[in-house]
Formats: sequence, structure tokens, C-alpha cells
Amino acid sequence: MSGAVAEQIKIRDAVDVDLAAIVRIYNDAVATRMSTAQLDQVTVEERKNWIKDHSPNRHPFWVAEIDGEVAAWLTIKPFIPRCAYSGTVELSVYVDQRFRRRGLARMLLEEAIARADSLGITAMVGLIFAHNEPSLKLFGQLGFEKWGLLPRVALLDGVYRDLTIMGRHV
Ligand SMILES: CC(C)(COP(=O)(O)OP(=O)(O)OC[C@H]1O[C@@H](n2cnc3c(N)ncnc32)[C@H](O)[C@@H]1OP(=O)(O)O)[C@@H](O)C(=O)NCCC(=O)NCCS
Repeated sequence: MSGAVAEQIKIRDAVDVDLAAIVRIYNDAVATRMSTAQLDQVTVEERKNWIKDHSPNRHPFWVAEIDGEVAAWLTIKPFIPRCAYSGTVELSVYVDQRFRRRGLARMLLEEAIARADSLGITAMVGLIFAHNEPSLKLFGQLGFEKWGLLPRVALLDGVYRDLTIMGRHV
């Protein structure tokens, strides 16, 4: 042992008091133009139903806490709201910049994969910009494969960007 104190990491359902941290983590990523097609910063007020719009037993919203602080989050949402796609979900994962490269995103995705059966999930996708290499590597490490490429579908600061669909069956 190096003498470092082990961090306590806990994954749990998000609750409304987590929203400020969730929004802050998201806004940091919005600004990078790497992770999301959302261009403007969001507010807690705008996103007040974000957690309520998820359901713990079907499309959960989880946070990962480190020593009681929200350090990352993951959402599972319907892929396309049509009955035939009901077993397919879209995953999004965001980690506070201060807590990256500590395995938090991997842990959250592993939890989603482990609980997929009980959540009624048969296939999972991540919709990831083709220039978001950290995310593509992350999903690739968790058994996701490239299922599609939508060329030049997002305009970010005057540059057209491709969207990669990373998917895996459960
Ligand atoms: C992508 C992101 C979620 C990774 O979170 P993280 O907790 O730092 O990732 P982990 O520590 O679990 O890393 C797991 C693997 O992902 C890959 N990875 C993560 N960050 C990386 C980076 N900066 N560069 C290259 N690979 C990276 C690596 O393969 C890594 O495995 P390794 O550490 O054994 O090399 C994080 O950078 C983030 O929040 N980015 C902004 C939001 C985003 O783009 N989300 C994806 C869209 S849904």
C-alpha cells in the first residue's frame, strides 16, 4: 500500500439535490464541443425534470459519488420512442474533470451492463461524436462495437462533425 486513503465510491439513483452537480458536470462538457450537440449552457431550472423523467426500474439516472461528492453520472434513456425499440437504450456518461481517469465511467458502464437484463434492456448504444476519442475508447473497452457512422450531421462552431453509433447487445 502507498499509504493513500482508499476512496469510497458509490453508485446510486440520482435525486433532485444532485442536479446542481449534474448540471455543472454537463456544462463543462458542453463547452468542449466534444461530447454533446447541446450548444448552450443549461440551468438547473431548465433541467428541473431531468431526473424525474427517468425511472429507476427501466431508464435510470445514476450518479457515482466519491466520498459523498457527485463525481459522475450516467443516464439510460429510450433509443427511439417506438414500441419495437423498447429493449434498446441510449447511454450517456459524464465525469467531473477533477475525477477523470479513475475508472468512474468504466464502473458506471459496467453497472449498466450488469443490470441490463433486470432493466429489460436487450441492446445499448452510445451516440458519440467521431472526434470524441476518449469516449470511443471507453465504449470500445466495454465491448461496444461501431454500428454506424452518420457523416457531417452536427454543426459545431462552424465545423460539420460525424456521429458514431457504438452498440452492444446484452
Ligand atoms: C469520456 C469520459 C466519460 C471518460 O470518463 P473517465 O471516468 O475518465 O474514464 P475511465 O477512467 O473509466 O476510463 C476508461 C477508459 O476510457 C478510455 N479513456 C478515458 N479517458 C480517456 C482519454 N482522455 N484519452 C483516451 N482514452 C480515454 C481509456 O480507454 C480508459 O481506459 P484506461 O484508463 O485503462 O486507458 C470522460 O472523459 C468525460 O466525462 N468526457 C465528457 C463527456 C463525454 O464525452 N461523454 C461521452 C458521451 S456519452
